[in-house]
Amino acid sequence: MPDIDTIFPLPSLNSAVTDFLEKRRSNLAKVMTQPGPDDNVIEDLLTIAARVPDHRKLAPWRFVLFQGKARADFGQHIAASFMKNNPDMPQDRAIFEGQRFLRAPLVVGVISSPKECPRGTPEWEQVLSSGAVCYNLCLAAQAAGFGAQWLTEWYAYDEDVQGALGLSPPEKVAGFIYIGTPTEPPKERARPEITPLITRWSS
Ligand SMILES: Cc1cc2nc3c(=O)[nH]c(=O)nc-3n(C[C@H](O)[C@H](O)[C@H](O)COP(=O)(O)O)c2cc1C
Repeated sequence: MPDIDTIFPLPSLNSAVTDFLEKRRSNLAKVMTQPGPDDNVIEDLLTIAARVPDHRKLAPWRFVLFQGKARADFGQHIAASFMKNNPDMPQDRAIFEGQRFLRAPLVVGVISSPKECPRGTPEWEQVLSSGAVCYNLCLAAQAAGFGAQWLTEWYAYDEDVQGALGLSPPEKVAGFIYIGTPTEPPKERARPEITPLITRWSS
């Protein structure tokens, strides 16, 4: 990490980064496999992820990591809540739900964790910062040669699952970032035409 007194160079063309961003695509979690990043790389990825705009340096987010057996163990909470809410579903659906985190070697729960801020950073801005963390983590993982996908699915919003995660209000799941080795390249996805989305304000 740079020293706090570091002065960075002024921006200049960095075509490696612009090329990377121009072609960026998520990798589907369902086609990820081993290996995932090791612990040193995970620390680097999370350090980059946390390097986001953050009004008043509140760090209004935190990470919950799922690796190895913890993925199946946490899956039991997902499956149990699914069956509680859908008691008529067949048992094989519970198995499916319980295996969600097994799609990738590493799942990072990014928790939006807004702080009381007497100086007045609105909660909305803190939540937005969590979104930036999720996206930065995806970019960092891909730049390190892994696949990444930002998912929430139903269980991010489920109270029992949130309880098992240890969330307390006003915390929310900003995303589960699935990280692993992709087994197939993503295809292009339709992107919005940008012109209709732009207005130029004038008096
Ligand atoms: C907050 C958030 C939650 C998302 N949750 C899901 C999800 O549950 N399921 C899904 O298929 N895609 C979800 N996505 C979309 C994927 O992350 C991804 O953007 C999508 O697969 C398209 O790929 P792209 O990133 O290359 O555009 C979510 C995106 C965001 C920003």
